[in-house]
Amino acid sequence: MPGIDFSVRQMVEGDLPAVAEVEAGVFTDWYRTYRRDPEPLPERTVAELRYASSRDPRGNFVAIASDGAMVGFMFSRLWGRVGWMGTFGVPTQLQGLGVGRALVEQTLTYLRKKATVIGLETMPESGANIGLYIRTGFVTAYPTVVLELSLIQQAEQLKGANPDGVTVWDEEGWPARKRMLGEIREISGAHLPGLDYTVEVEGMREHSFGETLLSTDAAGRVDGFAVLRTAPFRGEDTSGRVYLHILAVGPGSDADRVIQSLLRGVWVRATKLGFTTVVTGVNARYQHAIELLLSRGFRAMRAAIRMVERTAPPEIFTPSSGINASRWAG
Ligand SMILES: CC(C)(COP(=O)(O)OP(=O)(O)OC[C@H]1O[C@@H](n2cnc3c(N)ncnc32)[C@H](O)[C@@H]1OP(=O)(O)O)[C@@H](O)C(=O)NCCC(=O)NCCS
Repeated sequence: MPGIDFSVRQMVEGDLPAVAEVEAGVFTDWYRTYRRDPEPLPERTVAELRYASSRDPRGNFVAIASDGAMVGFMFSRLWGRVGWMGTFGVPTQLQGLGVGRALVEQTLTYLRKKATVIGLETMPESGANIGLYIRTGFVTAYPTVVLELSLIQQAEQLKGANPDGVTVWDEEGWPARKRMLGEIREISGAHLPGLDYTVEVEGMREHSFGETLLSTDAAGRVDGFAVLRTAPFRGEDTSGRVYLHILAVGPGSDADRVIQSLLRGVWVRATKLGFTTVVTGVNARYQHAIELLLSRGFRAMRAAIRMVERTAPPEIFTPSSGINASRWAG
């Protein structure tokens, strides 16, 4: 097969429309092949790509061919000292020519300077991806369990639910928001040293993509939080899905009470906005968190493969009784 002349550089705002087009093409092909879904995927909105690239503006890369065409892209983000690689794609007709590997290597060089843990999620169907990641230094960890809750089926339970049991971070004044960010950072770091979810809490507000609900203890300190994403990922989204992007409870807190109050807040808000389904993902390392969500009406829909660099700390490979839900974090 002939090679391809390309170079990798940082992604800039002006790249986003081309990234949207390449991404939709690649993943449409992927869904057709692996999930027998013939419908073309709508493009990710430019607002969504702007959000994704803004979490670490210098950590996103594009591969450009000598004729100027975009031949690959990679996003990454940093949650404190925890780095996340992806989404990632190369146009189908140009795969297998080394573009993907170059993007992985560039991103890892960047993330390794800043992160103590680097991980990713990939689809179980993609053996080739798993091989690529193993050859670039990753090992498989606990999988992610993707869960969904039907708000329609919860309607009875929601009747008369009190939406005021939670604090909305976005609605507080700056001194309170700042203090709460510190408490959110503490909870994140207690789950995994260096993990800091505040970048997502702030991002949801800056981009008007959603809001963060907080549970507080008797002393008024944050003992759990839920980052709710209401903005869609793709154009023409009629799925009725809302994303419980992150849910974490402080260690030592009464997980049942905190989850109860946060989920009530999520349900009531999502229902008011007309959503019908809440989607979340939990690292299977947090078995108790999955059990609690299942007991609250969530159903497990599928799994994703989590991989981490081999140098990751041993707790990544150890079960935890904590409550920490997000698509990727340690
Ligand atoms: C994953 C992806 C970005 C890799 O990009 P790529 O340009 O094809 O990757 P490369 O050409 O650098 O190949 C990387 C390695 O995978 C191997 N590989 C690539 N395609 C393969 C295939 N279809 N079957 C088997 N191996 C394959 C290559 O041989 C290479 O191995 P090597 O480094 O030991 O030589 C690309 O295949 C893609 O966009 N796939 C669909 C979307 C996707 O899966 N994204 C990632 C989600 S986590």
